[in-house]
Amino acid sequence: MKSRILLTGKNGQVGAELAALLPRLGEVTSFDRHELDLSNPGHIRRAIRSVRPTMIVNAAAYTSVDQAEREEKQARIINVDAPALMAEEAKRIGAVLVHYSTDYVFDGSRNLPYDETDQPNPINVYGKTKLAGEEAIRAVGLPHLIFRTAWVYGTKGRNFLLTILRLATEREELRVVSDQFGAPTWSREIAKATAMVLVQLSQQGQDAISKFSGLYHLTAAGKTSWFDFAQSILERASRTPRGLAWFVAATGSKRLIVRRITPISTEEYPTQARRPAFSVLSNRRLKQMFGLELPDWREQLDSAFADQQA
Ligand SMILES: NC(=O)c1ccc[n+]([C@@H]2O[C@H](COP(=O)([O-])OP(=O)(O)OC[C@H]3O[C@@H](n4cnc5c(N)ncnc54)[C@H](OP(=O)(O)O)[C@@H]3O)[C@@H](O)[C@H]2O)c1
Repeated sequence: MKSRILLTGKNGQVGAELAALLPRLGEVTSFDRHELDLSNPGHIRRAIRSVRPTMIVNAAAYTSVDQAEREEKQARIINVDAPALMAEEAKRIGAVLVHYSTDYVFDGSRNLPYDETDQPNPINVYGKTKLAGEEAIRAVGLPHLIFRTAWVYGTKGRNFLLTILRLATEREELRVVSDQFGAPTWSREIAKATAMVLVQLSQQGQDAISKFSGLYHLTAAGKTSWFDFAQSILERASRTPRGLAWFVAATGSKRLIVRRITPISTEEYPTQARRPAFSVLSNRRLKQMFGLELPDWREQLDSAFADQQA
């Protein structure tokens, strides 16, 4: 039987990639914020009851990390109450829930990759709401997959890659934090890995989900700092005429005026939300259970540039 998939957040970084890929797996009904507003329980119930999906993929979330410090109530509604209700509705109709969470559930006080058994201890409101969302889904007790990912970028939307490209047209010097470490992950790779997991589940039959249900870390391999990531982005943007072509397409500007990137400390770049200093996630469980390993972050960045120029 073909899957009937309900996708939320179809215009987000991960959601847009899923909207392009998931139709290979089944019949997809995807929603943007206006069609299905996660802060409206009526919308959630109505959408799920009318589509009657076999699978719900929730790519929508409240993702503004700094703004969440001022809008905790709204962040909780979208990141906790909405997934909890989706889980209840999914359980009622026997659907599987696929959901995304974050490396920011950890406090970053260590320097070894975190695995799924490590104790979360979020240090900002966004991380707290995402962790509470995970817990709410587990509490409903339905078959689910929660993928914790990190440092997501894509070719659209709001993300570090596009911000660096824009700033490189506006400033001669960029000052970038060099003492926070993580794994920049391309939204396309997250969607691809999600689809590969879902294909494996469907090949293994009806009961497979009970064996595989749970929490998985899903990020690029390797680790870097925001500073190194910024340097890598600008190297790729300026290295080839085609790299520059994308840069022009992404920023609308023809001139790269940046001359210097200076490493700075977190203390020198105060933000409303605190961020973990180290949030590299071990993907060992994903490999053990599904034989999946995402490419290194540098390779993913190369692919994102190559894809943009194709
Ligand atoms: N971005 C990161 O660096 C990062 C890191 C770790 C984990 N994650 C997790 O990965 C998942 C995907 O994130 P992403 O990077 O794709 O985020 P994104 O680009 O910010 O997309 C989030 C989507 O959610 C939608 N949304 C927000 N509020 C909504 C509401 N009330 N009702 C319905 N839709 C709503 C947004 O709609 P609009 O398009 O209308 O704004 C947007 O399309 C999320 O669970 C996020 O927490 C992200």
